[in-house]
Amino acid sequence: MSQLELLATATFGLESLVADELRKLGYGDTRVENGKVAFAGDELAICRTNLWLRTAARVRVKVGEFTATTFDELFEKTKALPWARFLPKNCEFPVEGRSVQSTLFSVSDCQAIVKKAVVESLKREYKLEWFPEDGPLMKIEVALLKDVVTLSIDTSGAGLHQRGYRALATGAPLKETLAAALVMLARYYPDIAFIDPFCGSGTIPIEAALMAHNMAPGRKRNFASEKWPWISPAFWNQAREEVEDRLKPEKPDYLIGTDIDEGALKIARHNAEAAGVTDSIHFQRLEVKDLTTSKKYGKVVTNPPYGERFGEEDEVKQLYRELAQVRKSLDTWSFYVLTSYPHLEKVFGGKATKRRKLYNGNIETQYYQYFGPRPPRRQS
Ligand SMILES: C[S@@+](CC[C@H](N)C(=O)[O-])C[C@H]1O[C@@H](n2cnc3c(N)ncnc32)[C@H](O)[C@@H]1O
Repeated sequence: MSQLELLATATFGLESLVADELRKLGYGDTRVENGKVAFAGDELAICRTNLWLRTAARVRVKVGEFTATTFDELFEKTKALPWARFLPKNCEFPVEGRSVQSTLFSVSDCQAIVKKAVVESLKREYKLEWFPEDGPLMKIEVALLKDVVTLSIDTSGAGLHQRGYRALATGAPLKETLAAALVMLARYYPDIAFIDPFCGSGTIPIEAALMAHNMAPGRKRNFASEKWPWISPAFWNQAREEVEDRLKPEKPDYLIGTDIDEGALKIARHNAEAAGVTDSIHFQRLEVKDLTTSKKYGKVVTNPPYGERFGEEDEVKQLYRELAQVRKSLDTWSFYVLTSYPHLEKVFGGKATKRRKLYNGNIETQYYQYFGPRPPRRQS
């Protein structure tokens, strides 16, 4: 097995959660940077991290890193990297790119130069003049940040938020990776009561159920690197067996998703079924103002409408007032609310215990976390 430099990419604000997840998977030697977490691992690490990471966007193999301020430099330094170690003769290797605060700002030029340099490097190693590109997909990324070029190959294929359970979505679904982050930040455990009163297509409770069952989020999907010749199928088999061995069949105690919209709930039930957690979540039609529970302690984790569109201000204000009323009546519960609504703390009548800036797509939001009192310790 070879030692590789790997990168788990993440949307802004989630990097430290990805690093925590990596540590728990046994990859503790991490370096957290903007939008990515670097770690060392082998082929098996590629399989395991793709299957298990809940909050990362992708897993990449780093091929090299250097500074470049001219196209010549970009070409020569790219060509000097050991591409044939990673790319078999027949692979398909499109190049995508991005450039932030760098002298080489034309992304399409950088992509074209990297493609040319990789072809030259492969020609030299394989003694070939032409590459059919009819084999496995190995998408290269050239990323420039302040003139530092990072070249990597994507091992995931579709982004890791695509768990394979969400065939259907409502108008404004959360990305599964962000929903998982909200549940993690709320420190949810299966013996804690949990309600999402604006559950829409069910993403938050479904991610909570996956965690409760210790179900790997990638269990029901495939990854680009499953077709790579240098990752033996034995590694994938081992990693997939571990996924099955670690499943916990016990149902979570009390996991509920409610929404005003019956159509959304139909989708949520469908998605929960596809995720294999139907029996663990109770979905119910309910207006938030009618939310009550017999449980003394628990967590509300939710993503209400933000009212981004003109003319929705009054409706949205009313909705947050209703949520604030619910919080008053459940004053021993903790509340975790992701929203871009700027007056939440005012409507809730106090500052959140903690807040964290997160991006929902390109909308800047805050994750307001109001901690309720600790439940008394259980007598053994
Ligand atoms: C931003 S979406 C939630 C998306 C969800 N997190 C997902 O991933 O699909 C907000 C949800 O609030 C629901 N909603 C709006 N007004 C409501 C009310 N008064 N009571 C309960 N749910 C409401 C909408 O039907 C919608 O599904």
